[in-house]
Amino acid sequence: MSSIVIHGHTFKTKISSSEIQKAIGEVAKQINKDMKGKKPLFLAVLNGSFMFAADLMKKVNVECEISFVKVSSYEDKTSSGNVKQLIGLNEDIKGRTVVIVEDIVDTGNTIENVWEQLKSLGAAEIKIATLLFKPNAYTKTVPIEYAAIVIPNDFIVGYGLDYKGLGRNLEDIYVLDYENDKK
Ligand code: IMP
Ligand code: MG
Repeated sequence: MSSIVIHGHTFKTKISSSEIQKAIGEVAKQINKDMKGKKPLFLAVLNGSFMFAADLMKKVNVECEISFVKVSSYEDKTSSGNVKQLIGLNEDIKGRTVVIVEDIVDTGNTIENVWEQLKSLGAAEIKIATLLFKPNAYTKTVPIEYAAIVIPNDFIVGYGLDYKGLGRNLEDIYVLDYENDKK
């Protein structure tokens, strides 16, 4: 096990790159079975999903398209709520099967919001593929069809996921080391 320090906090290895690849292989197998002949559009949500999207798509062997979107959060001055807007979607998704590719589903706020926006744009079928899923934090009802790795409510970094902007480049996934992080 190895330790790293990010912004003064200690993280330790949690999921090795070989475990990650194995889990992605399993999810890809399921997707290849389900998506045959549907010509799906895979929509990867940046920034966090860039590594997962690259490795997943190398293992997907059905005819498909891949595109990238971002979700921008901004304060809505009129409702004082936090509005999320989908940006960068140039494809016409009317009547199509869309597979959202995410790094992690935590409370589900982000994924539910993206799901609703795609639905209102006329997608016929929407599936969610996520590298990581925290079922104990999930508060929504949108089904998480393809979850490669299920984890407890820990804070993790690496393989696309960041802690205050750092750690996305790490090949393995690390968890905050509470024991050695008492300050
Ligand atoms: P949700 O909207 O609560 O499901 O949160 C999803 C977003 O929160 C992800 O796309 C990540 O950017 C971030 N996030 C949630 N959990 C973690 C974590 O453990 N490490 C790093 N980022 C996380
Ligand atoms: Mg994300």
